[in-house]
Amino acid sequence: MYYSKEILEVAKLDIEQRKEVEINASELEIQKNYIKKIKEINNIEFSKSEKQKLYTLVTYGCQMNSHDSEKISGMLTEMGFKETNDENLADVIVYNTCCVRENAENKIYGNLGFLKGLKAKNKDLKIVLCGCMMQQDLVIDKIKSSYKYVDVIFGTYNLYRFPELLYTSIETKGQIIDVWKEHGEIIEDLPSIRLHPFKASVNIMFGCNNFCTYCIVPYVRGRERSREVSDIIREVKKLIDDGVKEVTLLGQNVNSYGKTLDTPVSFASLLLKISEIEGLERIRFMTSHPKDLSDELIQVIKNCDKVCKHLHLPFQSGSNKILKKMGRNYTKESYLQLIDKIKKEIPNISFTTDIIVGFPTETDEDNNETISLVKDVMFSNAFTFLYSTRSGTPAANLKEQVQEHKAKERFNKLLDVLKPISYEVSKQQVGTIQKALVENISKNDNELLSGRLDNNMIVHFKGDASLIGQIINIKIIDCKTFYLIGEKL
Ligand code: SAH
Ligand code: SF4
Ligand code: F3S
Repeated sequence: MYYSKEILEVAKLDIEQRKEVEINASELEIQKNYIKKIKEINNIEFSKSEKQKLYTLVTYGCQMNSHDSEKISGMLTEMGFKETNDENLADVIVYNTCCVRENAENKIYGNLGFLKGLKAKNKDLKIVLCGCMMQQDLVIDKIKSSYKYVDVIFGTYNLYRFPELLYTSIETKGQIIDVWKEHGEIIEDLPSIRLHPFKASVNIMFGCNNFCTYCIVPYVRGRERSREVSDIIREVKKLIDDGVKEVTLLGQNVNSYGKTLDTPVSFASLLLKISEIEGLERIRFMTSHPKDLSDELIQVIKNCDKVCKHLHLPFQSGSNKILKKMGRNYTKESYLQLIDKIKKEIPNISFTTDIIVGFPTETDEDNNETISLVKDVMFSNAFTFLYSTRSGTPAANLKEQVQEHKAKERFNKLLDVLKPISYEVSKQQVGTIQKALVENISKNDNELLSGRLDNNMIVHFKGDASLIGQIINIKIIDCKTFYLIGEKL
């Protein structure tokens, strides 16, 4: 074996042959071969029935999963499938799952019940489950015992093996489970179908080493590992050749990018290198952990025009007692000092954040600390979550869990404070002229286009759909709580 992993279960198909296999370029070739084999099967069936094979892909969770889904789409497309949103018509249904909170998991179990009916009508339907939820032994046990009609299961470390697993399932008709306990090497150059032609996400690192006590992500995404600068640059250049103007660099904590590379590189210097790429207009990134946001990074955001003036800086709680129990490694005061320092250097920057309400032992007083912090910072938007116990995390063992009704009460109180703050931040934009990347036709009014400003705020304005993908000047003339209204100049 050339990489550290434990295969819990794998189809027996050509396991002997696989033992001889080296990972990396040859692994990609192997998977391309399986893609070709499935395409051949699809072609033969098409010549018999003239029916186009279809897939539905449902993505839960964060941008990491969305980005993985682009690769799943890419592979399915190369296999000869076309996408449909109608699960009733699909030949392959893939759920890319999330387990960060219990309700994310419940939604997936609920939908699986519906798929049982579809499978009863169409025995050739392939049901595929992948993503973070599949990295948990308890989930795999439950699927094996109660959801026997699921065909293929894989986890977060071996997405590139999807073609082989799907092919094996087509050949053997058995349930194929291939979940690894640890990551192997990073596999570059998987095919991918992007959601937008003009903007794209790029993973700069995988996994997380922070082990915040409530969070399951390090257990299901593994230890932190960074991609090589040269691989990232190569991918960004290719995206630009394909017409991309804006890239979002993804990592659970981008501030610790590069620490584990043979030649360590800071995130700030990676940003600078990427900003030198000709043709790239905007760079975003997420997520930043407040504990190690460097002065060097602040200067790069300030001085580099291409780097957007927006920081997603989750603080989770304003109470020092709770922050300590969460293992976040900063205090309310140090977070506020950091915000002040950034605001002084970059006055027009906007902040968004994540907040957890109802962490074990939290009191009304702790929640008031959170409320006082959001008032001080003035976030343009905040993602608020009710604490959800994740088994296996240290916080799950804390005795004083907060009662649900209490947590909801605090949650609503916090929202009542957050909304007027967002409105206030929106109002400050009125009268300014800003550049927007036009993203799509507005979901609520098809006469309006929707664009994203440098500071990540959304603006709606009248315009022709041909503007989609362009960066244009917009005068902000009015606002609502979570979006702005503008005029194209
Ligand atoms: N790496 C990012 C967060 C990834 S998870 C960071 O550290 O900022 C996204 C968000 O989900 C977290 O910021 C947190 O607010 C929320 N979250 C994670 N675990 C949770 C849990 N057990 N219950 C409720 N919210 C949780
Ligand atoms: Fe989870 Fe903390 Fe890592 Fe973010 S930094 S993914 S919240 S453990
Ligand atoms: Fe993301 Fe959910 Fe996994 S938030 S990293 S998809 S557990």
